Amino acid sequence: MSSGTGPLERSLAGKRILVTGAGSGLGRAAARLFRERGAELELVGRRLAALQETLPEARHSPLDHADEAAVAAFAAGCRPLDGMFLAAGELRTGSVEGTPTADFDAMIRANLQGPWLMAHHLGPKLRDGASVVLVGSNIALRAIPDSAAYSVAKAGVHMLAKVLALEWAARGIRCNAIAPGPIHTPMVEARLAASADPAGDLARLAAVNPLRRLGTEAEVAALAAHLLGDESAWTTGVVIPIDGGADAVY
Ligand SMILES: NC(=O)c1ccc[n+]([C@@H]2O[C@H](COP(=O)([O-])OP(=O)(O)OC[C@H]3O[C@@H](n4cnc5c(N)ncnc54)[C@H](OP(=O)(O)O)[C@@H]3O)[C@@H](O)[C@H]2O)c1
Repeated sequence: MSSGTGPLERSLAGKRILVTGAGSGLGRAAARLFRERGAELELVGRRLAALQETLPEARHSPLDHADEAAVAAFAAGCRPLDGMFLAAGELRTGSVEGTPTADFDAMIRANLQGPWLMAHHLGPKLRDGASVVLVGSNIALRAIPDSAAYSVAKAGVHMLAKVLALEWAARGIRCNAIAPGPIHTPMVEARLAASADPAGDLARLAAVNPLRRLGTEAEVAALAAHLLGDESAWTTGVVIPIDGGADAVY
């Protein structure tokens, strides 16, 4: 158990880190942990009140990360950054044949175009030696039924991390993706709430990984903090599953 005085406690001190999706779930939990570890936060999401609730003292920017004009305007006024945790995303379910093209477009915009635009417009704001973490998904590593457009978009996020790692390496900037399995967040709670059998669905979600449970926001935030900190300075261009071992087994 940490005494509260170890090196991790200030591992992000002096770093200015931007977090998207910071008004709930993984983005909110990560922003709060980064703050605890000494970072200065720039919080992005579409709902100002939610961003303020995450960290009242941070800078808050209501922004749709898939709106290029808005992202470009935000980037023009953004101060230099030492890191970004791009957690904003949205889940809509459906098979390839059962997904309306409007839903496919929405999944690409919310999950792939958003981080692409943030990297495109905010890349020049990253200081040399910065670190960027994208949020993919373990269902973009192995196919499951009924989340087709989301999975395809998240697979693009994984490759975006690798391409950015290559492009930014000359500036000493790292980029990695994390691929979470199911985590207790509003996204998963909403999906369960819409189910005819929430308890059964929850049990099935937990049963697909060897550790037999869902992950927690704190566990994902800790991995993101590690990747944003200097302790992971030789880690770039990878996609890291954080899924209770699901990716390791059939
Ligand atoms: N929970 C899981 O099991 C799980 C598993 C694998 C991957 N993920 C990924 O983890 C990330 C965080 O998800 P979560 O579980 O924490 O869900 P969440 O609580 O629903 O958070 C998603 C956040 O994204 C923001 N967002 C959505 N569309 C946006 C847009 N166009 N522009 C700006 N912000 C937008 C939302 O904020 P506003 O509505 O205020 O904009 C919300 O705060 C997502 O990328 C998700 O796909 C989650």
